[in-house]
Order: sequence, then C-alpha cells, then structure tokens
Amino acid sequence: MLTQVNSDQRFDKLTFNFLSTLNIIDHIRNTRDITRDELEQILETEDKASIEYLRSSAREVATAAYGNKIFMRGLIELSSHCKNDCLYCGLRRSNSAAVRYRLSDEQIYDCCEQGYKLGFRTFVMQGGEDGWFDDKRMCRIVSTVRQHYPDCAITLSLGERSRESYQALFDAGANRYLLRHETASPEHYARLHPAEMSFQNRIDCLYALKEIGYQVGCGFMVGSPYQTIDTLYADLQFIRTFQPQMVGIGPFISATGTPFQDQPNGKVGTTLRLLAIIRLLHPPVLLPATTALGTLHPQGRELGIQFGANVVMPNLSPRDHRKDYAIYDNKICTGEEAAECRACTEGRIRKIGYETVVDRGDFNPNLEY
Ligand code: 5AD
Ligand code: FES
Repeated sequence: MLTQVNSDQRFDKLTFNFLSTLNIIDHIRNTRDITRDELEQILETEDKASIEYLRSSAREVATAAYGNKIFMRGLIELSSHCKNDCLYCGLRRSNSAAVRYRLSDEQIYDCCEQGYKLGFRTFVMQGGEDGWFDDKRMCRIVSTVRQHYPDCAITLSLGERSRESYQALFDAGANRYLLRHETASPEHYARLHPAEMSFQNRIDCLYALKEIGYQVGCGFMVGSPYQTIDTLYADLQFIRTFQPQMVGIGPFISATGTPFQDQPNGKVGTTLRLLAIIRLLHPPVLLPATTALGTLHPQGRELGIQFGANVVMPNLSPRDHRKDYAIYDNKICTGEEAAECRACTEGRIRKIGYETVVDRGDFNPNLEY
C-alpha cells in the first residue's frame, strides 16, 4: 500500500513537471519571450516528451516561415592569420602551432566560380582579423565578386573593423555580416577574451553594421567556459533586443594550443534546445546548423534542422588549406572537395525530408507564420 502511494506521488510529480514544461514552451512560442527560470527548466529537464515537444514546436514555427526549405551558403575561409588572442580559438595569435595561410584574390575568385557552378547564390567570406585584408584589398575583392555575380549575396565575417571600413565594404557590394557577440555578459566576455578586447566595441560594431544596412548575424558558443544559465539568458535577451537577421550558435569545442584546451566541450543536447528556443523567440531568423554541431555528433546538422535551423554552410575553401582553418579540434569536412561537401549536405538534408534551395535566401521580416 505504502509503495503504491509513493509511486503515485512520483507519477504526479513527473506529470506536473511535464505539463509545466509544455506550458512554458507554449508560453515562449506565444509571447516570443522567456524568463530566466523557464530557460533553466528547459535546459535541465530530462523528460524526453518535453524535449520532443520543444523540437516539434520549433520545427513547426520554422516550417510555417520557410516551408521545408534549407538555405545553402558557400563558405570561403580567406585567412587563418589573426591579430586577436581569444582564449577559445585555435587561430589565436599566440598559438604558435597554428598553420597560417591566406588565399590570393585569384584563389577567392576561383572558389566563387566553382561555388556558382555548384548552385551557391551566397558566398560567405570568413577569416581571422588579418591586416593583410585591409579595406583596399577587401573592397577590391568584394566589388569584383559583386560585378561577376550580381545575383549573389555577399556575406562577410571578418571580425571587428571600423565603421568606415564596414561602410566601404557595404558600398563595394557586401550585403550581410556575421559577427558573433560571443556572450552578452560583459564579465563573461572578459573571461573569454584578452584585456585589449572590449565587449562594448563588439556591441558597437553590431549596431554600426545594422545601421549601415547590412543583414547582421550575431551568436555565441554553447558550453563555453564560465557560461551559466544567467549568461545564456542575457544572450537570449540580447537577441530579442537586437533582432538580428541571422544567429550562429554551435557547441564550444576545445582547441589544442589554447588556454581552454582542457576544458570540456559544449553539449549537443543543450545546443539543440537553444536552437529551438531561438527559433521560438525570433521566428523569421536565419539559423544555421553549424559545422561545430556536425563535428560533435555524426548527425548534428540534421538534428539542428529538426530543432528549427534552416541554413547550412558547406565549405568551398580550397582543399589544401581546409585543415589549417582550425578554430577547434577535429573539424569535419577538411578532406572533401567543394563538390563533395555540397553533394553530401544536400543528400543529408533530403534524407530527413527537407529540400536545399540555391537562391539567395534573404531574411524576410514579413513572413507569415
Ligand atoms: N569552439 C567552437 N566555436 C569556436 N569559435 C571560435 N573558437 C571556437 C571553438 N573552440 C567560434 C566563435 C567565432 C566563430 C567564427 O567560431 O564563436 O565567432
Ligand atoms: Fe562536408 Fe559532408 S558536408 S563532407
């Protein structure tokens, strides 16, 4: 008898938690807001049915906005040189073991040509903060690509630059800019970056980019050292305030040769839950299933899509240099040619019932969902 009562009580507690998590998920979806305690409950629940409800809710919202379309962006990694010393990044200037390379203008144009033939209509040019790619050189590259491919979007991801530089690159033909805020807590930011880098400057850069007219992406790593529920809550509230067009999140992965090399990797499960929450908070957002997610789990990118992501970024960089763009250890897609990565990505997406699209895939704030 006593056993019976105890197991009933246990059942009631589980049922209560389950129902309250479902209510929280509906509440986030309906209000596009979240409280700190709701975030904690969603990140900590072990109830499979609640996680499944989070997943299906986020996917429903993504599908209402974008159907079963997944946008493909071609990633070109311009340079593994970086003047910064971010504590988490394998390309930090103090990592003397990092192999450094730069693509020539011609190599970049070759990547675009190959990418265009493969159907890409967005080129993402990403690199460390490398003074070699100054405004003169970068504007020349952007305007050449713009002239050759007037139907393509040009996305830059080159870190912090001056407002004048962002303006010049925009005038040369760039449309979008990715600059992860990394964390919305100034104290946390200071523990991830050297003293000469400033949280305020990062935020100022993001607002400058938006004012100039770029479609802007912010974002953060999941499970970075010293991250807490409170810093994550600040990240989500920053996204709500800033209203970026894109949000890039992926798990932190330790990088050999950095001060964080022995820190544990971020969790795939937490990353998926946060992807879903971001989709519910900001339905029209362009949300990539990142390479970092694919690195920690063989089906990481597919899972990302199932939890609300709608962008993938296959690598178009020349194969000789791929392994040297080593921001973290064991990065996938370093041995494949551009065409192989593209075909692989498309196959993976088709297998889970989605369709890759090759148009520019611009942000559309007026989507009905
Ligand atoms: N693990 C995961 N992501 C990382 N990044 C940098 N280093 C790592 C790492 N060790 C992310 C940062 C940066 C983006 C280009 O890659 O968020 O903004
Ligand atoms: Fe690059 Fe699969 S996506 S090999």
